[in-house]
Amino acid sequence: MSDFILTSDTIQINHGSFGATPILVLDAADAWRRKFEADPTHFMRRLWAPSLAEAKAKLAAFLNADIAGLAFVMNASDGANAVLRSLDFAAGDEILVTSHGYRAVSKTVEHVCRRTGATARIVDIPFPLTGPDTVVDAIDAAITARTRLLVVDHITSPTAAVFPVAAIQTRARKRGVPVLIDGAHAPGQVPLDIAALAPDFYIGNCHKWLFAAKGAAFLYAAPQFRDRLHPGTISHGYGQGMAAEFDWVGTRDVGAWLSVPDGIAYGENLGWAQLRQRNNDLASDAAKLLSQVWGTRIGTPDSMRAHMACVEIPLTGPADEARAQKLWSKLYDAHRIQMPVIAFAGALWARPSVQIYNRAADYEALAKVDWRALDA
Ligand SMILES: Cc1ncc(COP(=O)(O)O)c(C=O)c1O
Repeated sequence: MSDFILTSDTIQINHGSFGATPILVLDAADAWRRKFEADPTHFMRRLWAPSLAEAKAKLAAFLNADIAGLAFVMNASDGANAVLRSLDFAAGDEILVTSHGYRAVSKTVEHVCRRTGATARIVDIPFPLTGPDTVVDAIDAAITARTRLLVVDHITSPTAAVFPVAAIQTRARKRGVPVLIDGAHAPGQVPLDIAALAPDFYIGNCHKWLFAAKGAAFLYAAPQFRDRLHPGTISHGYGQGMAAEFDWVGTRDVGAWLSVPDGIAYGENLGWAQLRQRNNDLASDAAKLLSQVWGTRIGTPDSMRAHMACVEIPLTGPADEARAQKLWSKLYDAHRIQMPVIAFAGALWARPSVQIYNRAADYEALAKVDWRALDA
């Protein structure tokens, strides 16, 4: 599709990992970089603050979020680090994560636990998923009197499941446990109303499904947490409140955050609701096709799927990381298909994504793959 510079010799069905930025948005980000380079001092002294305020206001409107609790960060990992490393934990405390959590974020939890003496506990959520209630109940059952924070993904990375975060949060609140929602995949992919959800902490990427340039993400925090939050990089704004601390984190690429309104506008031109419907439908069609042709299980029920599917690969034997990585590489080398292969819950899974540049033919090509031959 000519809106993107994605290589045409590859079937790109991995929007989920890194997103893909439309040319219009790349150009907008580049225009900001050039404006900066034309007079860096003028830009940072006069233009940066108002431009950032405008970009943040557009994002706040899109998310229906109180702008006072909203900060740009570089990526979801950066946002998760800011939250986890700002909160106080001590020996005896527990931080709860799920077995479907993004591993890099779980590693941040591990790091924080090592430094504070707290314990990371993993809630095992059975897979394939049967419905949202299983997830809510499994998490609720794992909360104890020692739980100080729950970290849960809005859309899970290894299993492509839309988790019922509002219901999870309601249960956690009843037990007095704050929740960090990792929405790395959510903005743009599912409707998001931060005011209605009223999360304690929410992190979301703008460079995945919101079409912004790479290095654009956000962190939202509820009023009671804002003053104790610090970015990963402490700089001039230290001690001057959330906005000042997060707005200036040293000299950096100016194009990414300032391109967020252009990413939102790209989706608006397509129509966010129509785009979501189209992508959801194509993901469901792809899931059904793959599971029929391969004779395997779909990981998520229709009610928990958005723009990514998770379908079991028709291979028996060990389902470990090494084999998944080998198959992922061979899929690309032999078929020029770019898609993650994931080892999870004792099986190997395909996780194709759907974005505006994808067509049914992309998944038909995937369905024809001879996995045994790749595995040889
Ligand atoms: C659930 C989840 N959290 C965090 C991340 C990290 O995102 P980033 O690489 O933008 O920091 C990802 C990336 O795919 C993810 O899926």
